[in-house]
Amino acid sequence: MTSSRLPANLEPNALSRAVDAKRRRGVAVTDLTESNPTRVGFSYPSALLAALADPQSLAYDPQPLGLWPARAAVAADFRRRGIAISADRVALTSSTSEAYALLFKLLCDAGDAVLVPRPSYPLFEHLTRLESVTAVPYDLEYHGTWRIDIDSVRRAATARVKALLIVSPNNPTGSFLHRDDLAVLAELSAANGWPIIGDEVFADYALDPAPSATHVMAASDVLTFSLGGLSKSAGLPQVKLGWIGVGGPAAKVDATLAAYEIVADTYLSVSTPVQVAAPSLIEQGALVRAQILARVRQNLVTLRSHAGTFPAVNVLPVEGGWSVVLQVPAVRSEDALALELLEMDDVLVHPGYFFDFAREAYLVVSLLPPPAEFEQAVGRVLRRVSAGVTA
Ligand SMILES: Cc1ncc(COP(=O)(O)O)c(C=O)c1O
Repeated sequence: MTSSRLPANLEPNALSRAVDAKRRRGVAVTDLTESNPTRVGFSYPSALLAALADPQSLAYDPQPLGLWPARAAVAADFRRRGIAISADRVALTSSTSEAYALLFKLLCDAGDAVLVPRPSYPLFEHLTRLESVTAVPYDLEYHGTWRIDIDSVRRAATARVKALLIVSPNNPTGSFLHRDDLAVLAELSAANGWPIIGDEVFADYALDPAPSATHVMAASDVLTFSLGGLSKSAGLPQVKLGWIGVGGPAAKVDATLAAYEIVADTYLSVSTPVQVAAPSLIEQGALVRAQILARVRQNLVTLRSHAGTFPAVNVLPVEGGWSVVLQVPAVRSEDALALELLEMDDVLVHPGYFFDFAREAYLVVSLLPPPAEFEQAVGRVLRRVSAGVTA
């Protein structure tokens, strides 16, 4: 009845069912999977959204790539991050997820493939399938730090592959793209004709970045797309403003933007009020960003200091982002452990398989929750994991 682009099984998984059941019974569950910044007690400036009511927005001037002042404000925001880009190489979208959908329409035919990191953000499965594109994984390997396994990228290459996706810092491993990896990946991309799509939504949240951390637009010889948005950079997922910066050789960029314009013009999905407000939202968003960065740093310090007394749990190094990976003894399945934490400790964590880790056992913990809640809940996680080992 419905398209095969949708999952065949729409049933919630055991963990989601268990959370729903707990909440229906009125049990307060501490959510260490929380990724919504509007729910964790940040103080948003009261006039933050005022510019959305600017009467300028009463006029509709449809522009496929976005209104110029908004594109200029995004270009200035790239420059804040040390990336030189002109506003004519910026396109606005309603979110990063939509940016993926538009880029897959631009670059792929039905049945084509894109290379995606593993472990990474689970939405790729849906974002690709909904565009009739296959997500072919390449691996990130952990050897003291998470790095891209370049051979796995080579092995994943087929004639159907039309783009290479890089998430930096990656969700959930927190690993940035490194300069030497980018150099090799750019060569591979050039040889195969792949543009590089860089998801840099968490780039503002550096925790312990390696000095060699970089961004996709540093590869100036290949076509690159750098994705970002207010969702993460200003803690405003509900405002719905994302963007794509396009980099690479001028002729390729111009031809790509001309074709992209057709795709974007078909939907014109970014509302006028958010475009008019963009310069102000980007400027004031810095106040929220600073709070988020302070929060994730504080929670990481708390976690590391508690974990020191629980040798069974290895808090993996994290270069950036909003989450951290705990390596735990594989004495029971990740699912069993996550269910036990929920049932016995009223704490929700993500099992590693949710992000497609190659092996067990990992838990992924969000660094966003309010510090007191976070400290209490991670204490319970550390005790439960350790008790399971010594029992
Ligand atoms: C790596 C990554 N990319 C993109 C997104 C989606 O961002 P947006 O809200 O702009 O669609 C997320 C959301 O969690 C994410 O983790």
